[in-house]
Amino acid sequence: MSEVRMGLGWDVHRIAPGRPMMIGGVAIPGPFGFEGHSDADVLAHAVTDALLGAAALGDIGMHFPDTDARWKGADSLQLLAHALGLVREQGFTLVNVDTTVILERPKLKDFRLPIRQKLAATLGLPLERVSVKFKTAEQVGPVGEGRSAEAQAIVAIRTRD
Ligand code: C5P
Ligand code: MG
Repeated sequence: MSEVRMGLGWDVHRIAPGRPMMIGGVAIPGPFGFEGHSDADVLAHAVTDALLGAAALGDIGMHFPDTDARWKGADSLQLLAHALGLVREQGFTLVNVDTTVILERPKLKDFRLPIRQKLAATLGLPLERVSVKFKTAEQVGPVGEGRSAEAQAIVAIRTRD
């Protein structure tokens, strides 16, 4: 019988003018975006940590240190695909992914389908196993004041048998 494991991921990035805003591999148009060493894709990073966590393979900074020039401006979906490969090497199959992006503005709901499609394609999952939810922080705290964005992810993996 296959064994199921869970993994949890979280990430935060500062918001800055003139930066791209990548969320799950989709560029969100607007005057501000996320600061970071890579493309600062807060959602891809949370999902990557969730995947690594499910297989107890450490965390994103261990596999992709931000001091390593190889990852400067990196496409975070490539990091995610790499993490998936590591999880598969341990004999696991991904079951599903559920996520929340917490961002005051802009509204993201029109981007839900393209983000789900990008994540599903990267993870080799059917669309119905990839969930993407959005929340504001009700104008409270750094996220609510528009200074940062956060993402949370949980994944289930199972052993192949
Ligand atoms: O945070 P709040 O509960 O007010 O969010 C209401 C709805 O607005 C969410 O369920 C989500 O669908 C949408 N939303 C969005 N983009 C955001 C934040 C929330 O589309 N940045
Ligand atoms: Mg990050």
